[in-house]
Amino acid sequence: MLVSAKEMLTKAREGHYAVGQFNINNLEWTKAALQAAQECNSPIILGVSEGAGKYMTGFKTVAAMVKAMVESMGITVPVALHLDHGSYEGAKACIEAGFSSIMFDGSHYSIEENIEKTKELAALANEKGISLEAEVGSIGGEEDGVVGAGEVADPAECKMIADLGVTMLAAGIGNIHGKYPENWKGLNFEVLAKIQDATNGMPLVLHGGTGIPDEMIQKAISLGVSKINVNTECQLVFAEATRKYIEAGKDLQGKGFDPRKLLAPGAAAIAASVKEKMEMFGSVNKA
Ligand code: G3H
Ligand code: ZN
Repeated sequence: MLVSAKEMLTKAREGHYAVGQFNINNLEWTKAALQAAQECNSPIILGVSEGAGKYMTGFKTVAAMVKAMVESMGITVPVALHLDHGSYEGAKACIEAGFSSIMFDGSHYSIEENIEKTKELAALANEKGISLEAEVGSIGGEEDGVVGAGEVADPAECKMIADLGVTMLAAGIGNIHGKYPENWKGLNFEVLAKIQDATNGMPLVLHGGTGIPDEMIQKAISLGVSKINVNTECQLVFAEATRKYIEAGKDLQGKGFDPRKLLAPGAAAIAASVKEKMEMFGSVNKA
């Protein structure tokens, strides 16, 4: 059964750790992430971007696949299926499709329009008992066609959005999607502290979780971050492990070209990476 992210994030906020959101792209990705969560006895949020949803032939397919896998794999840890950086229409479609959590990313709208749309979706999500993530400011870089200017969030605007009945809030604090550049200035903890004060205990979300040093992760958690999103890292380790397998010519030996063999090293690399992040975020044994 899929659950809303509300309870797992409230517990994480109170227990001073964070739950990882790991983006999925296909069955192997999902299986690896679920296996890692079960082995770590950790709650998990499976993120689905609109692009990944399309790739998997639609949100209904994704919801059906994830629900069936949770059941058939005997997964007992809490699992939330979450729309990542959703549009207004995408958020509605995921509610319809049976997702247990959604993100409405209204960061590219004016604050007035962001408030209006977030408020409407909060009412819908609350009625269905699913969790809602909203965004203020923006995350730098690009993820699956979602491009952000990296605008640092205004704590007063964060309060306005947090007060609309959302479950969690993503705020731009200098974080970036994809790899961090050499000259990256780091997370803006001064602003994060102000956002924490302004939002009264709301679980905060840190996007761009690939490549943020451990000390910064721990400091962000101490300032109210309870959910950390990771996407690029799993793609990088999957690609590297697959490349190594092919470069070693293993796909040419025996039945090494069998997709179940060919995709196995990449899937194992994803599972290892998810486990490492769960350790780092402190969510191991918190199911
Ligand atoms: O929304 C998803 C994330 O913010 C992932 O960021 O690809 O840099 O790990 P990342
Ligand atoms: Zn993101």
